[in-house]
Amino acid sequence: MSLLELDSVTLKFGGLTAVNDLSMSVEEGQVFALVGPNGAGKSTVFNLISRFYTPVTGSIRFDGKDVLKMAPHEVPNLGIARTFQNIELFHQATVLQNLLVGRHRHRKTNMIAQMLHLPSVRAEEREHRHAVEEVIDFLDLQPYRNSRIAGLPYGVRKVVELGRALASKPRLLLLDEPASGLSVEETQNMRWWIDDIRRHMGITVLMVEHDMGLVGKVCDRVLALADGAKLAEGTPAEVQSHPKVIEAYLGTNAVSKGGKVA
Ligand SMILES: Nc1ncnc2c1ncn2[C@@H]1O[C@H](COP(=O)(O)OP(=O)(O)OP(=O)(O)O)[C@@H](O)[C@H]1O
Ligand SMILES: [Mg+2]
Repeated sequence: MSLLELDSVTLKFGGLTAVNDLSMSVEEGQVFALVGPNGAGKSTVFNLISRFYTPVTGSIRFDGKDVLKMAPHEVPNLGIARTFQNIELFHQATVLQNLLVGRHRHRKTNMIAQMLHLPSVRAEEREHRHAVEEVIDFLDLQPYRNSRIAGLPYGVRKVVELGRALASKPRLLLLDEPASGLSVEETQNMRWWIDDIRRHMGITVLMVEHDMGLVGKVCDRVLALADGAKLAEGTPAEVQSHPKVIEAYLGTNAVSKGGKVA
């Protein structure tokens, strides 16, 4: 059984078919990339998995469970965490506070216990702090731990968003363009982190990315979308040299010249 399975999923926005009869399977332990030109429907696929949208037809299963039966707030409890194309953080809060938000799904004590500051509450707080400190160390966020998000450079905010998702200790991490807007050095770091997230933390990664260099280095499997439909699927090399993919990115001329998507 695959960890994540989409079967014949279609979503329309009025007259526009944003996702068109899409089937895909992500296996546990994989780093899987969704690629495609702007407007192909990549972020919409993430929004479907997160239950922000409900498809017209099709099914989405995670670890055998029917995701479409869940409300959006229940999805993180399944063990699915995500980052957003346009970074969604609490800008007036610190890095540490934002990372602690990622622990929300693990909060077990109720409000009364918290008000009375019972030992169970203190034990739980220690556990959350510990999980967050691990993330801070892993992503080298120590210098920024008490900084407010609003004053931080873009590249650091992206790392904090990754950290918030990791703090929830997910089984599946959805990364929407993790390298967009990053410098060459920051992209290199992102590459090592994604490698480690899979190898050492055992987390499955589904990412949307335009940087085919990064995709080629970290991903096992790639699915190319255009106009919401699957164009090709395979290894990064297979997908990059697929005629339909070259045509979607570069036009028909590039195919006849034997092009490859860079
Ligand atoms: N909430 C919405 N209402 C109407 N149309 C939408 C909505 N969200 C996305 N779309 C449209 O659906 C299509 C797919 O959008 P989506 O954001 O999924 O593309 P994408 O592949 O993530 O593109 P990009 O690489 O630019 O981020 C686009 O034509 C977009 O304009
Ligand atoms: Mg997008």
